[in-house]
Amino acid sequence: MENRRVLSGMRPTGRLHLGHYHGVLRNWVRMQDDYECFYFVADWHALTTHYDAPGTMKEHVWEMVVDWLAAGIDPEKATLFVQSRIPEHAELHLLLSMVTPLGWLERVPSFKDQQLKLREKDLATYGFLGYPLLQSADILIYRAAHVPVGEDQVPHVELTREIARRFNHFFGRGKEFEMNIERAMKQMGKKAARSFHRLKQQYTEQGDQAAYALGLELISHQQNLSKKQKEQLTGYFAGRGEVILPEAAALLTSAAKMPGLDGQKMSKSYGNIIALRDRPERVEQAIRVMPTDPARVRLTDPGDPEKCPVWQFHLVYSDHETREWVSSGCRAASFGCLECKKPLIGKVLEEQEQIRDRAKPYESHPERVREVIHEGNRKAGEAARETMRIVRKAVGTIY
Ligand code: TRP
Ligand code: SF4
Repeated sequence: MENRRVLSGMRPTGRLHLGHYHGVLRNWVRMQDDYECFYFVADWHALTTHYDAPGTMKEHVWEMVVDWLAAGIDPEKATLFVQSRIPEHAELHLLLSMVTPLGWLERVPSFKDQQLKLREKDLATYGFLGYPLLQSADILIYRAAHVPVGEDQVPHVELTREIARRFNHFFGRGKEFEMNIERAMKQMGKKAARSFHRLKQQYTEQGDQAAYALGLELISHQQNLSKKQKEQLTGYFAGRGEVILPEAAALLTSAAKMPGLDGQKMSKSYGNIIALRDRPERVEQAIRVMPTDPARVRLTDPGDPEKCPVWQFHLVYSDHETREWVSSGCRAASFGCLECKKPLIGKVLEEQEQIRDRAKPYESHPERVREVIHEGNRKAGEAARETMRIVRKAVGTIY
């Protein structure tokens, strides 16, 4: 049977905004009908950078889950849970750490990027280095097939695939497989076997592609090996064994690019957001004062939508007809910018009304949010424990 399990998580950073909604949440909502979806609050991941502010965690977690529900995530369809309530994630993280070369973690782009970006924080910590490995554990423990994420997370999913391969390589090989490999190595002769090991190490530990090519060539030149033996050696060389933890793939769905009110990426730290459950008056005011093409000083000055953040909003919210109207009217200076913003204000408010309506029952009955998470934790825990039974057996820690 095809694996249709989907896993994704979000750090609890407080109230979500339209960037989260158009970039991620709408995808999550879309997927819940066709896949077996697990969505979780990555509270441990939040601690890797915000260990200095643990007091805000609780509030942020509940606010975010309400935002998920408001966005249309249906707890009858998707399983919603909290990472730290499933301690098996930590156990798998630890076991994965046994076979994770330091260099793999140091090379993940977000490691250096975030250290530079968040200079005021000390991120030279063990926990922060392990951030992507914890993410690998999150994914692998559900044996998920797909991980819907934004582009910035793709390297983390790639790392997860490599970790799975390496884990399977060390712990997934049955006795018979090992004996076959051993026999083939003997038949190759000492010298060739030594080269083989050296190349294999260069490839698996440093990702050296040239070593990979040389290794395959070496295998193909072995005249006293059968075709079957060569196939097995090729698998062994690439780090494959019996699959304990299946490799998941990133699912990059065409998410709308949601710019902030000032045209930069929408982000709380830039102060350019519209929150998912913002007050209507605030939304209207925020769009009214949005900057536009600076060339349009007077009503009679023609503009260029490409130089205007309002146009980016139209690309997300407006139909073809409205866009045509904006595009030609802006260039011909046939209306002012406020006029141009009006249909947009209408669309955003309409979208928010629906979101606010969905949030209402949860806002007035917070215990319902807790029930959703409680049930989700139960289901997720079951799935995680099932994987850990297999994993413990593979690493040999059952007594
Ligand atoms: N690192 C992700 C982010 O910052 C959050 C995350 C944690 C995640 N574990 C995950 C996403 C597992 C997908 C799968 O957005
Ligand atoms: Fe921007 Fe519209 Fe003004 Fe043109 S008319 S500058 S697209 S707000």
